[in-house]
Amino acid sequence: MKHTDIIEIFENSAFIDTDVTVCGWVRTSRDSKNMAFIELNDGTSFKHLQIVIDKAEMTDIAEFMRLGTSLKVIGTVVKSAVAVDSVEINAKSIEILGACPLEYPLQKKRHTLEYLRTIPHLRVRTNTFNAVFRVRSVVSNAVHEYFQSRRFVYVHTPLITASDCEGAGEMFKVTTIGYSNDYKSEEDYNADDFFGKRAALSVSGQLEGEVAAMALGKIYTFGPSFRAEKSNTPRHVAEFWHVEPEVAFAELPDIIEIAEGLIKYIINAVLEKCPTELKFFDQHFEKGLIDKLTSVVNNDFAVMTYTEAIEHLLNADVKFQYPVEWGCDLMTEHERYISEEVCKKPVFLTNYPKEIKSFYMKQNDDGKTVAATDLLVPGVGEIIGCSEREADLEKLLDAMQKRGMTTEEYEHYIALRRFGSVPHSGFGLGLERMIMYVTGVQNIRDVILYPRTVGSIY
Ligand code: 4AD
Ligand code: MG
Repeated sequence: MKHTDIIEIFENSAFIDTDVTVCGWVRTSRDSKNMAFIELNDGTSFKHLQIVIDKAEMTDIAEFMRLGTSLKVIGTVVKSAVAVDSVEINAKSIEILGACPLEYPLQKKRHTLEYLRTIPHLRVRTNTFNAVFRVRSVVSNAVHEYFQSRRFVYVHTPLITASDCEGAGEMFKVTTIGYSNDYKSEEDYNADDFFGKRAALSVSGQLEGEVAAMALGKIYTFGPSFRAEKSNTPRHVAEFWHVEPEVAFAELPDIIEIAEGLIKYIINAVLEKCPTELKFFDQHFEKGLIDKLTSVVNNDFAVMTYTEAIEHLLNADVKFQYPVEWGCDLMTEHERYISEEVCKKPVFLTNYPKEIKSFYMKQNDDGKTVAATDLLVPGVGEIIGCSEREADLEKLLDAMQKRGMTTEEYEHYIALRRFGSVPHSGFGLGLERMIMYVTGVQNIRDVILYPRTVGSIY
């Protein structure tokens, strides 16, 4: 259908005094004695386009006015009568593309985010989700720009896998057959299944990413990861989008530099390309958001060791729900205290105790810690998990053995340490948590089209 995108009409003054065809959904409408007004949105712009109807020239307008109705409008672009620097359309003809009854759930009143989660097919038509998905798209593009312009190779790692990268037993099984008592053992059952062995959805593309980096040098993956974590929190979904670079010859400080550069690049892109959306989030979701983001890009991130963080937590004048001691895994309350109260900005926590981290992380010379870092940010907590990888064959095998892991599914991964092993590092950035940080939206369910969480799949 030949028509002009609404964003073009806002951005190009050459349309003024010309006739155009626009399409969209009615977002609000208002009727007065002689005139009627429709706010139309076609998704190309956060801002709605006002359609002005002269009731002397158009009768039977009631159906046009219903919220949710889709319209094709022909009319003249004119300077707005009230808003400076804006335009509106004086309608000449209006055609209904799809009528919308009064039961349409998105009537004028503001709905709660909780209610909107129950109508994922319609919530996208609200201002909040319009802005969220526009930002999400810009962030995704910025990820590619950042890596491509630095000569990283984009690789696609498998989503179905036989190995467990994080070793936390949080994998969704992939199977085409049900278990029955006819099988004598689990091996017997797995052997009969599609792949002839146990398979699952990948929690991370890292292991295969390392394979690629040991040939292509600098790579990144960007795709979905799956976690069957039963934690019902505002920060966890079972299916999330994962950005994972892997860099040959990089040690921990090198990868930290790349990670900080990525976060700043993404924020700059959003500041530049989504000013209207950010203004909206600043007003409705996080006061001071734009100042926060501007300050983040203009300042260095903090770097602090895990051991120093434990000291801060032990000396804190706060009662934490979970007790703290050296060796404990940090909970969200601890991570937020460190980034929000101690550092007041993003902080890389480094050198965690090896017992609480994954098998593949480089063991430090102290025998107690690994060269790993999490990036913690105010308001969200951990958004990046990062480490230098164990490049030494013996140490890697030892770490796997201590965790009771079998080496069978990791043969290729282990072999990389035999054939020209090099120091290398990588990280995983959760896309949804990044979106939460740049928008101030507090629940991860509200930054993804269809959130998958324990006990809920729409
Ligand atoms: O810290 P994680 O578990 O690290 C890894 O998976 C590494 N293999 C990454 C790597 O080094 N290549 O996960 C990385 C990030 C987290 O910091 C978080 O942002 C996100 O992935 N994440 C989740 N996001 C939403 N829901 C979940 N259930 C998530 N689990 C991890
Ligand atoms: Mg982590």
